[in-house]
Amino acid sequence: MLSGKRILVTSGPTHEPIDPVRYIANRSSGAQGTAIAVALRDLGADVVFVTGPAQVPPPVGVTVVRVETALQMLAAAEAALPVDAAVMTAAVADWRVANAAGQKMKKTAQGLPMLEFIENPDILRTLSQHARRPALVVGFAAETENVIDHATAKRARKGCDWIMANDVSVDTGIMGGPENAVHLITADGVEEWPRMAKSDVAARLAQRIAKALA
Ligand code: CTP
Repeated sequence: MLSGKRILVTSGPTHEPIDPVRYIANRSSGAQGTAIAVALRDLGADVVFVTGPAQVPPPVGVTVVRVETALQMLAAAEAALPVDAAVMTAAVADWRVANAAGQKMKKTAQGLPMLEFIENPDILRTLSQHARRPALVVGFAAETENVIDHATAKRARKGCDWIMANDVSVDTGIMGGPENAVHLITADGVEEWPRMAKSDVAARLAQRIAKALA
């Protein structure tokens, strides 16, 4: 169904260095992005899988590009263009440390280190507004409250076609867990999908993408 289609998937967390041995990260396991890459591959797509340091191994049968930071992920995503579709599942760090040290920071009598932050580029937004914009751009919205309202606003703000909205509150067990419960938000409205295995979410999304690109 997707043979001849080239699809970019971003996945996993990013690591933002504080110094050569320390970094800031998040709890993304990379499970949902990996499952989506597998499902797209199984429908015959040529998948470029740009992944941060995830807990789950990348799939076989896809082109794997390993990155650490948000800046590297942006560069790798742009280098993958042109693609027919892009699915941005990565939990990109919103900020990086502006004053990261070139050498390991040491305890000193002068006191505690002061980290300064700078905002990372938004990869989803950049691709959505790109001169070589993919025909279909899909983002995720990880929210902990007012999931649909926040995700609908996010879709407009970022300029993507679809948003897969999920509630990542700790008590849902979704981040790092085997299941996901998503709402698919498109120009036509909001679709609630029942809670199911991340592999089933991925298969259903891959089918939808195949239909949209047909
Ligand atoms: N995303 C991205 N680049 C960033 C931040 C986010 O590509 N620098 C993408 C994610 O891959 C995801 C979507 O944007 O597809 C939404 O991510 P999310 O963390 O929910 O949104 P934020 O942009 O961080 O918005 P907010 O902080 O307002 O929740």
